[in-house]
Amino acid sequence: MLDLDEPAPGHDLRDDIDHILVTSEEIQEATARMGDRLSQDYAGKELVLIGVLKGAIMFIVDLARAVRLPLTMDFMAVASYGASTETSGIVRILKDLDSTIEGKHVLVVEDIIDSGLTLNYILETLQTRNPASVRVCALLSKPARRRVDVPVDYLCFEIPDDFVVGYGLDFNQIYRNLPFVGVLKPALYQNPTPAPEPVAETQAE
Ligand code: IMP
Ligand code: MG
Repeated sequence: MLDLDEPAPGHDLRDDIDHILVTSEEIQEATARMGDRLSQDYAGKELVLIGVLKGAIMFIVDLARAVRLPLTMDFMAVASYGASTETSGIVRILKDLDSTIEGKHVLVVEDIIDSGLTLNYILETLQTRNPASVRVCALLSKPARRRVDVPVDYLCFEIPDDFVVGYGLDFNQIYRNLPFVGVLKPALYQNPTPAPEPVAETQAE
């Protein structure tokens, strides 16, 4: 039988969070407002939401439910070559779109715009496929980290230069299921888990 006086079995993800940056209520409000804006801006247009896996999954499903227009959803997964923390901007498509976007109004849905290099590559690739328009909708942006000037047409929150997790964003693939966006306790970066980076090829998620 479960003893309620004992600590919960297993590892409570929330114990690893130093502080919450964006609450789940704030995310819900921002998503609802964004859905209203998109419903106006894309009225009468053939809209396709493109989610960049895996980080954008929570945001794209909530956002899609807030848009009161017919739309389709498609997904892309990319890997970026880089020797260090920074993405290099040289990107390989791991999973391409299932459908053509020719003549359609494309909205790329991203979890976070950091250096902007991955998004820049994705936008260039999509532009070659003759869509009617391409815009970007991001949950978060860290302007201090930007290395290439990418247009973020729709943005929910600007955040400082902290490594964040939750609501789709991961650290070593964990923490995506937290319902808010938070900053990890610094100790978790140093020991015993290595910092979130370094590999010859990382999936940009
Ligand atoms: P960029 O090419 O540097 O803009 O890389 C963007 C990608 O890096 C995002 O889509 C995220 O998957 C990942 N990323 C950037 N900053 C963070 C963070 O603070 N936490 C988790 N993932 C991040
Ligand atoms: Mg991403």
